Amino acid sequence: MSSKEVYTLKNKNGVEISFMANGGRIISVKVPDARGEVADVVVGYDTPEEALAGDAYFGALCGRYANRIVEGKFTIDGVEYRLDKNNGNNHLHGGFEGFNVREWSVEPVSTGKYAQAYKLTLVSPEGDQKYPGELKVGVIYGLTEDNEFVIDYTAETDKPTVINLTSHPYFNLNGAGNGTVEEHELQINAAKYTPIDGDLGTVSGEIADVKGTPFDFTEGKNIGEALSAKADQLDFGGGGIDHNFVVDGFDGTVRLAATLKDPKSGRTMEVYTDQPGVQVYTGNHFDGTDTGKQGKPIVKWGGVALETQIFPDSPNHYHFPNAVLRPGETYKHLCVYKFS
Ligand code: BGC
Repeated sequence: MSSKEVYTLKNKNGVEISFMANGGRIISVKVPDARGEVADVVVGYDTPEEALAGDAYFGALCGRYANRIVEGKFTIDGVEYRLDKNNGNNHLHGGFEGFNVREWSVEPVSTGKYAQAYKLTLVSPEGDQKYPGELKVGVIYGLTEDNEFVIDYTAETDKPTVINLTSHPYFNLNGAGNGTVEEHELQINAAKYTPIDGDLGTVSGEIADVKGTPFDFTEGKNIGEALSAKADQLDFGGGGIDHNFVVDGFDGTVRLAATLKDPKSGRTMEVYTDQPGVQVYTGNHFDGTDTGKQGKPIVKWGGVALETQIFPDSPNHYHFPNAVLRPGETYKHLCVYKFS
């Protein structure tokens, strides 16, 4: 199996999702619009070769700890662990060689639930990126006949460790490369979010109300309306949204967290999850110098990532959801991107 190998999930409605074993990277998500016109709605590149050479987080599985751990430090049972700081003063998305650049084993699975599905597995050895314990991870990518792309994660460890897996596709429902997502409408079932500070996304542990801030998407609004607001929080995010939203009513069951709509194409995507948070990232670091699909530049705000997860830096905040996994327990995480 070569790392450039591409696997594709198809259903009878013409939805087609392709990914690579390397990083489990989702490299294309083709969805018809109301008139049956198909567009690829994830930011990325035309070929697997370009994907391997390009932005290593595009569409990838992130771990062991997606998002940031401040100063890369955490303590479990009185033992302090120090991870690499691969993002300023912080540890981001599992470190220098996170799960996003690893070779996953890929096997087809057949269950009645999915039109097609694959299971990706990875064994992360003890000490991988300085994390404790051997972690065994399984991720099912399944596509249903209801146009749901399901990402079903499980993991087990042989020593207490921390875990927070996510998936990192950037969506542009008008088609990758077709402008920005400013005119996309976003609704998020989150009355609260976790503010960041100027130090590249460091969180203090504060859980703040979105009311009265650009982060109030409770009623749904254009992303551009939030992006054009004047707020320190947007500056800290690198000129846009790069924030974790606290999913209303989290109780570990699957619920609708967010809905993204593109009025131009009429495409809609709902995000369901059993996780307590969703990181919304509007691609603030894209600057048009990287060339994406169909030779088009990857521009600032050219896509939006909706990453279901535990909150950033949870291991260092006792009032944040638990991110510690112990032997005998199973980490479970479900994320559904549903297209219509
Ligand atoms: C983070 C961004 C980061 C990006 C890297 C996102 O999940 O929130 O801060 O720059 O990943 O691709």
